[in-house]
Amino acid sequence: MGLLEAHAALAGRKAIVVGGAHGIGRAISLALADAGIAVAACDFDEEAASAIGAEVEAHGVECIAAHADVRDEAALERFFDRVEAEFETVDFLINVAGGVKSDLFTETTREQNASEIRLNYGYILDAVRRAVPMIRKGGRGGSIISFTTIEAHRGAASYSVYAGAKAATTNFSKALAVELAQEGIRVNLIAPDTTPSRTSFASASPEFMEKYLALPEEARAAGMSMYIPQKHPPSQEDLANAVLMLVSDLTRSITGITLHVDGGTMASAGFIDWPLDHKWGPAPGVETLAKLFAADGPPAA
Ligand SMILES: NC(=O)c1ccc[n+]([C@@H]2O[C@H](COP(=O)([O-])OP(=O)(O)OC[C@H]3O[C@@H](n4cnc5c(N)ncnc54)[C@H](O)[C@@H]3O)[C@@H](O)[C@H]2O)c1
Repeated sequence: MGLLEAHAALAGRKAIVVGGAHGIGRAISLALADAGIAVAACDFDEEAASAIGAEVEAHGVECIAAHADVRDEAALERFFDRVEAEFETVDFLINVAGGVKSDLFTETTREQNASEIRLNYGYILDAVRRAVPMIRKGGRGGSIISFTTIEAHRGAASYSVYAGAKAATTNFSKALAVELAQEGIRVNLIAPDTTPSRTSFASASPEFMEKYLALPEEARAAGMSMYIPQKHPPSQEDLANAVLMLVSDLTRSITGITLHVDGGTMASAGFIDWPLDHKWGPAPGVETLAKLFAADGPPAA
């Protein structure tokens, strides 16, 4: 099957996008609609949830749009009841909603932990439980994609509960991929890292964000360039394209994998392109150290 045939074969399919009205989720809903796929999107952003319907329908496909916070079990159930009543069958489930607030574990509360586990793992179980019977009913297989993070693959200090919940989503999805493989239902994960979004900015402390946004544009870009091998963060559309690839038959033999859409940060695994040293390494080189610890002492913290 060629690229154009695989793209054309997506027309007439139906997808559920959980967290599908704003930012990365919106980019995914619109990319699916552009490929001729009907979309059911829910989101906790009420304004975005009421706008996405018309935006998707402008691509000539049907859209169910609903306001629902995935942390509210009843609201998520009501959304799936509606999708089942109106779509009857679906082909794809994309779990985009997720998020974190940076905090050392010992400074968090049980309530915060429970909320983060629900947002990054718990709701995915409920969404899969509801979507699989609808995919089975369609009788043509399907694809489930959940968003995780690079933090599920490293010791992400100050993101520990999030990292644990996303790692749980990762291993749950791998096990599910094996359980559903014979039915032609594929289960995969997408792990971003630095794509700008409202949620990723909200994960940092307000004090950090205030200072970060006050930096000149070049300084922020230089920071990204030191960290990301491709030198710039993947866009929201890059993530939507990865979803399109994973739902298409071009990847019909791919199941149980994590696709790292991160410009190479997972591969570099902590190596930084130290600008004064012009070399990649996990620790600063001599030129950087000499600058940091010049004769007049290290810069004030
Ligand atoms: N932005 C990044 O670089 C990055 C990095 C690592 C992991 N991720 C993961 O990718 C996914 C999307 O990234 P993002 O969150 O930065 O994108 P985003 O801010 O664009 O959010 C995606 C959508 O989810 C919705 N959403 C958030 N919380 C929700 C809730 N409780 N109920 C319903 N809808 C909700 C948002 O309104 C938005 O429409 C998340 O699962 C996130 O953990 C993103």
